[in-house]
Amino acid sequence: MCGIFAYLNYLTPKSRQEVLDLLLTGLKRLEYRGYDSTGVAIDSPDNKNIVMVKRTGKVKVLEEAIQEHFSGADYSEPVLTHIGIAHTRWATHGVPCERNSHPHRSDEGNGFVVVHNGIITNYNDVKTFLAKRGYDFESDTDTEVFAKLVHHLWKTHPTYSFRELVEQAILQVEGAFAIAVKSKHFPGECVASRRSSPLLVGIKTKTRLATDHIPILYGKDDKKLNPDQDTDSGKQQVLPRSESTSEFMPLEEKEVEYFFASDASAVIEHTNRVIYLEDDDVAAVRDGTLSIHRLKKSLDDPHAREITTLKMEIQQIMKGNYDYFMQKEIFEQPDSVVNTMRGRVRFDGNAIVLGGIKDYIPEIKRCRRLMLIGCGTSYHSAVATRQLLEELTELPVMVELASDFLDRNTPIFRDDVCFFISQSGETADTLMALRYCKQRGALIVGITNTVGSSICRESHCGVHINAGPEIGVASTKAYTSQFISLVMFALVMSEDRLSLQQRRLEILQALSKLADQIRAVLKLDSKVQELAKDLYQHKSLLIMGRGYNFATCLEGALKVKELTYMHSEGIMAGELKHGPLALVDDSMPVLMIVLRDPVYVKCMNALQQVTSRKGCPIIICEEGDEETQAFSSRHLEIPRTVDCLQGILTVIPMQLLSYHIAVLRGCDVDCPRNLAKSVTVE
Ligand code: M6R
Repeated sequence: MCGIFAYLNYLTPKSRQEVLDLLLTGLKRLEYRGYDSTGVAIDSPDNKNIVMVKRTGKVKVLEEAIQEHFSGADYSEPVLTHIGIAHTRWATHGVPCERNSHPHRSDEGNGFVVVHNGIITNYNDVKTFLAKRGYDFESDTDTEVFAKLVHHLWKTHPTYSFRELVEQAILQVEGAFAIAVKSKHFPGECVASRRSSPLLVGIKTKTRLATDHIPILYGKDDKKLNPDQDTDSGKQQVLPRSESTSEFMPLEEKEVEYFFASDASAVIEHTNRVIYLEDDDVAAVRDGTLSIHRLKKSLDDPHAREITTLKMEIQQIMKGNYDYFMQKEIFEQPDSVVNTMRGRVRFDGNAIVLGGIKDYIPEIKRCRRLMLIGCGTSYHSAVATRQLLEELTELPVMVELASDFLDRNTPIFRDDVCFFISQSGETADTLMALRYCKQRGALIVGITNTVGSSICRESHCGVHINAGPEIGVASTKAYTSQFISLVMFALVMSEDRLSLQQRRLEILQALSKLADQIRAVLKLDSKVQELAKDLYQHKSLLIMGRGYNFATCLEGALKVKELTYMHSEGIMAGELKHGPLALVDDSMPVLMIVLRDPVYVKCMNALQQVTSRKGCPIIICEEGDEETQAFSSRHLEIPRTVDCLQGILTVIPMQLLSYHIAVLRGCDVDCPRNLAKSVTVE
């Protein structure tokens, strides 16, 4: 999804060239989120104007355009204070093109310029309102209305501060957004806000900050402007000026740099001190001082926003020696699964403690049912662990796609426990489903990979999967870590069940061997690459399995689709004869997962149904299982593990296969077309 990066230096001299470099690096760090066009806005050399450069395509294209645009100009002169805003756009309203790229401007003079993530749902109404007042629109976007609305408010309310103008504009718009606004009428100031779209502020000072929080300020009056009451309609506008009780006091640093970004990976190389903004926070910088305001006072508001220290390291978001982030992330799995278990699983005492939910376990044990809710790969991790959860918790377990769950207005009760699984912690559908369940009184458990994310903050309790930053749009290591987090939860729930102790022990022992077994599976890489060479020119790939490996079929097919643009389907082997068997012939590529587990005989039946239709399946089977291998054209052998963890080992060849096919087909592995890493719109 779109990415925002804005930079403000105060009394820290930086040349415009340096500011531009900072903005471009910030955008590069956000590239993984998925985008189709880019843009920046900085001050002109005489500080009287704002210069914008926008391009369709990659940040590299923007970089070249910037070089060309500024060639000949002297951008090496240091500037004490400057604000630059930058954006990667993932098209929602209007095709990807320069005209629709951000920043968007209020007028030809670039009075106010805005970068925006999310969707302003009432943009048509606002557009009509503004069009009647003489505003012409130059893009097809929803964002442009915001820039023009701020401009309109500025014209009609000349005494308003920059922050107040932006606040009033926010009060008029509906939908989800994160925004950063810059204005030539308010030099040295930047205003940013969010509603349902992530935004954080990074703070860099020369010395350690004297404070670990920024107090929240409120306006005396937060009355919303009546859009019909303006000077054009002949009525004098009597908008209340929302003066803060104590304006601009918090950070007393003299020299300071601020970064506004959609996620932490864009700021970590500059600072590890960040504030995660909450919905309807308005962060404003004026005279080098940051203040955070709320539009409306609510009883449960804290008094301050905490300055958090990021634990992330810059190396974690670099590719290292790998060609692609996805490849790096696949190969990180022996470590990431250990990190998920670190400090939680004690293999010597066979004990598991999940600190983030331990106080809620008695309540969870009393619940009516468990609901596991997510999208895409995160949903598949729920499918993968459902059977074990049913077995070890002895509770009904429902697995739901967040979008469908919401469409159905699914009944939710106070004694339900709802798990929201999300790598990013920002997926709009999952977040909406979370709020839906929270309103109905259910206990909310977040399973996320992103500290400080919305799902993380809005859950009652939860588990951080600790897989480390996942940059490739295709989710890999997050899946295996989500899987393990849910397995650990099942083990915690069955701790005091005597009848289940043998089973728990078997799983714990298998968990202790998992990292080495993943290493062994990763050694199949070159064999998988050879398979990819045979498959990459085909149009379709069917992936079949059942039981604990059905989730691998779904996840494998999703990986193939999203990375290679080939058709692929994950088929429950038990359903073959109910339709999919008609697809099988001697030319249709089929991959089957056939392991020595309780459904082995049924899988062998399915295998024979395929071979007797002249299908030549590639098989994923257990090491040394010659009997099964005899039915295959080619096979990949994986180490033996307990049935409920097989899915972790079987999904890795699928990740590798989709990766290699994508490379052979010349696809953009880390940023597949039309997709975004963090899907922050519904
Ligand atoms: O961040 P989330 O886990 O909530 O994202 C959910 C899906 O958008 C995501 O898993 C998507 O399916 C992956 N790109 C698939 O590889």
